[in-house]
Amino acid sequence: GDGEFKYYSDGEWKKSCSGKSVPIINPTTRETQFKVQACTQEEVNKVIDAAKTAQKSWAKTPLWKRAELLHKAAAILKEHRNPIAECLVKEIAKPAKDAVTEVVRSGDLVSYCAEEGVRILGEGKFLVSDSFPGNERTKYCLTSKIPLGVILAIPPFNYPVNLAVSKIGPALIAGNSLVLKPPTQGAVAALHMMHCFHLAGFPKGLISCVTGKGSEIGDFLTMHPGINCISFTGGDTGIAISKKAGMIPLQMELGGKDACIILEDADLDLAAANIVKGGFSYSSGQRCTAVKVVLVMDSVADALVEKVKAKVAKLTVGPPEDDCDITPVVTESSANFIEGLVMDAKQKGATFCQEYKRAGNLIWPLLLDNVRPDMRIAWEEPFGPVLPVIRINSVEEGIHHCNASNFGLQGCVFTRDINKAILISDAMETGTVQINSAPARGPDHFPFQQGLKDSGIGSQGITNSINMMTKIKTTVINLP
Ligand code: G3H
Repeated sequence: GDGEFKYYSDGEWKKSCSGKSVPIINPTTRETQFKVQACTQEEVNKVIDAAKTAQKSWAKTPLWKRAELLHKAAAILKEHRNPIAECLVKEIAKPAKDAVTEVVRSGDLVSYCAEEGVRILGEGKFLVSDSFPGNERTKYCLTSKIPLGVILAIPPFNYPVNLAVSKIGPALIAGNSLVLKPPTQGAVAALHMMHCFHLAGFPKGLISCVTGKGSEIGDFLTMHPGINCISFTGGDTGIAISKKAGMIPLQMELGGKDACIILEDADLDLAAANIVKGGFSYSSGQRCTAVKVVLVMDSVADALVEKVKAKVAKLTVGPPEDDCDITPVVTESSANFIEGLVMDAKQKGATFCQEYKRAGNLIWPLLLDNVRPDMRIAWEEPFGPVLPVIRINSVEEGIHHCNASNFGLQGCVFTRDINKAILISDAMETGTVQINSAPARGPDHFPFQQGLKDSGIGSQGITNSINMMTKIKTTVINLP
């Protein structure tokens, strides 16, 4: 349309009464690409009211029918992969191919939620009383899983579609309604995704999408008494949200500093390939699961760094439309933050494997060798194409560095010795440890983000999310 997009409320596309909009800046051109509505608190109230009403009848809609609608939405989402991917390219500078992959993966995720939901929600438990001391067999307990109510979903800019559906799919199959507050960068892709759910024919008000400024509707949404659960993915904002939220279940995924430990017996080619893929891929390292620090045994460090350097040299750098490996980071302030980490490392004597180069929001991939614990980059998340290498003299030193982090999302270890790998995995205080591969969330039915340290609360992955978005209801039959 005219570049200004409506929000989605009670099954309709609406303009905000505020008369105001929020600009979405294209990270590549740094010019306004689209505008979305700056919704008001009153509009948020209406959306939540509608969600509350719609949820009541949705919860009574047969599970197989809920699944059928989700399958339909998944198919429509996949049909719309190209226009949605184009939004991702313009809004978050995701490389064109990766943008398409994000949408296809999202369709698959929604279908999987429908399939998993009909299985795990289709069964409950039956307990009898006489296993507990002092009881006769006079009480029969039936358990089932019931929805929580209205779920608030807040996905981040790096997967505005995929990390929205990873909340929407589980929420809806479990009988909840859902209010989506997309990130500003990525809001139009999210609205287009919402359109696919609209076309699938979900009941009015069951899902809606409000856009706007965090300062205006952020706290209002997260502290709203009509919200029964918050599923958030993003940065530090999540910590603030969890402090302010009421007594409701929270599912939070707040980032990581995933370490990659390289032992002396590792396949260095495999390790180098995974370091480059893990550290720099899909939007220039802007992933919570990106490899964010390499901890390599000193005896193989020179060889590893050479191999990684050779692969970094082959990365293409440029606009997302050309499907370059390295594309502009999401905002200028993000680029400035990354540059701050780089300058700190420079001042403290890190070895630059490439020349530091930046044009606007585009930062060339950079490997920093000989990083030491006094440098910020050793601990902080750059969320960009800059990767520190710390040389270690023992495995313990590597584990110690990993465990000293305030994050605990994932980690990885490269070795040919499976026994060592398992021992290291046990010693690493992270929710997941990948043996001989870079960290990653998927496949999307695997448990993900197990709530360690500042990395989050609750657990994710399709099955865990469905369970998390339900509560157990028990009915006890008392025999005379
Ligand atoms: O940014 C956080 C995402 O959950 C990471 O997902 O491992 O599929 O890139 P990914």
